[in-house]
Order: sequence, then structure tokens, then C-alpha cells
Amino acid sequence: MKSMIVTGAANGIGRAIAQGADLAGYRVGVLDIAREHAEATAAQLSHGEPLVCDVTNAELIARQFEQFGDIDVLVNNAGILRTGPLIDHEPDDFRLVIETNLNAVFVAAQAAARIMRDHGGGCIVNIASIVGMHPSPNSGAYAAAKGGVISLTQHMSLEWGAYGIRVNAVAPGFIDAGMSAPFYGDPDVRERRSSAVPIGRLGSEEDVVKAVLFLASDDADYISGETVAVDGGVINSVLMHLPRD
Ligand SMILES: NC(=O)c1ccc[n+]([C@@H]2O[C@H](COP(=O)([O-])OP(=O)(O)OC[C@H]3O[C@@H](n4cnc5c(N)ncnc54)[C@H](O)[C@@H]3O)[C@@H](O)[C@H]2O)c1
Repeated sequence: MKSMIVTGAANGIGRAIAQGADLAGYRVGVLDIAREHAEATAAQLSHGEPLVCDVTNAELIARQFEQFGDIDVLVNNAGILRTGPLIDHEPDDFRLVIETNLNAVFVAAQAAARIMRDHGGGCIVNIASIVGMHPSPNSGAYAAAKGGVISLTQHMSLEWGAYGIRVNAVAPGFIDAGMSAPFYGDPDVRERRSSAVPIGRLGSEEDVVKAVLFLASDDADYISGETVAVDGGVINSVLMHLPRD
């Protein structure tokens, strides 16, 4: 049985990834700082194990991974969002966003890669965001971290391919779930955002899960260093809003 650790798996997109992986037959490590939700999510899975820890704690992450045993796939999904104009961003808040959304991706990926290297390989999927590819107002700290995740993904794939480790990223777009669910609770926002998507709808957790499971699978065994946007075409749509007559 293959194994997968998903960080931030107690809620939102991460929980959906853990559930999808379970259905696909993985033993799943449900890693999250939110103990109760992590335990509840793991208990719903056929082969789920709660791993309660803060992704920013390198020592704890390494210990949890060692105890979990072989890791075939790591999905770095845990993340936090802080919005607001950069001119007003508190440095401590900026640091926390980078620490959680970028530094922790490095720390967890490195800990997993050391285990994978000793077991002949593996696969890492990092959850980025389309704001790491295209700037968006009021998202500067978050976007800087996600842009870093995309660059880190490329560099890890370059250095770790020799160990049989593939590293890719998924960049979700306008997803009606998790941290964005309250935002899309407003019907005006829903309408404005869905009509800006070329395929005409917001994304779901499931849209992200399918991309993650594909990249984790042997069907993607010649794909590494890529970032797959799961966004219904948003990042390629700028000229849709400036049509020729
Ligand atoms: N929802 C969206 O619209 C959207 C869009 C693009 C990218 N993303 C990315 O998808 C990922 C999942 O987001 P979501 O929408 O499901 O968010 P969410 O807030 O619903 O879930 C995030 C999970 O991460 C956990 N977490 C946060 N900090 C942690 C820490 N220090 N240690 C361990 N766990 C921690 C939380 O407890 C939570 O369970 C994030 O990386 C996010 O940036 C989300």
C-alpha cells in the first residue's frame, strides 16, 4: 500500500485531498495543527493516521515523518491567508505568512526527501496559488510566499530528480472552499468572479484533488518541476476582458 502525508489536511482542500487519496488506496497521514479536526478527518478514512503538529516546527515535522515510516507522496498543502495593502502590512504578519506558506514547504519537503532518497524515490506536490504566478491587489505577502513555492518546486525537482523524487506544484485559482468559502459567500463576489473565469464557474476542492492525485500517480512519472494551474483558464484570460471589436 502506498502512503501519502497531506499537511493542512484537517479542513478545506487538504481534507478533500486526504479523502481522495484514501479512496485511491493510500495510507494517509493527516497532518495539521488543529488536533480535533485532524483526528476526526483521520478517523473517517480507511487507513488514516493523525499527525498533529505545526508545519513551521522543523524538529517536530522530521520526528513525525520518521515515525510515519515510508513516505511515497508528500502534499504540502497547509497555508494561511492574510490580505491587505502592502503599505499597511505588519512585518510580523508578513513573516508569519512566509514562515507558514514558504519556509514550512521547504522544511517538510526536505524531511520527506531524506526519507524518500533512502527508499529509492517518491513524489512531492506543493499547493501554490495563481497569485504566485500573476500579481493580485491586497495579496502581496501571500503571493510572495506562493511565488517562492513555485520557484522552490523547480529547484527541488532539479536537485532531487537524481534521487528518484519528482516535485510539482498545483496552483488553484478561484476555489469555492476552505479559506475562500466566506469570500464566495457573497453572491455579488460569486457572480463577478465566476463570470471572469473562461469556463464560467468557480473551482471546487475536487478540481484540485484530481490534479494532485494525477501528479502523484505513475501516469505523471515523466512530469517534474511543473506548476499546474487549476483555474478554469483565469491566468490566460487577460485579453478576454479587452476584446477586439
Ligand atoms: N481556497 C482557495 O481559494 C485557495 C486558492 C489557492 C490556493 N489555496 C491554497 O490551498 C491550500 C489549502 O487552503 P484551504 O483553502 O483549504 O485553507 P483552510 O484554511 O481551509 O485549510 C488550511 C489548513 O492548514 C492548517 N494549518 C494552517 N497553519 C498550519 C500550521 N502552522 N501547521 C499545520 N497546519 C496548519 C489549518 O489548520 C487548516 O486545516 C493553502 O496552501 C492555500 O494557500 C487555496
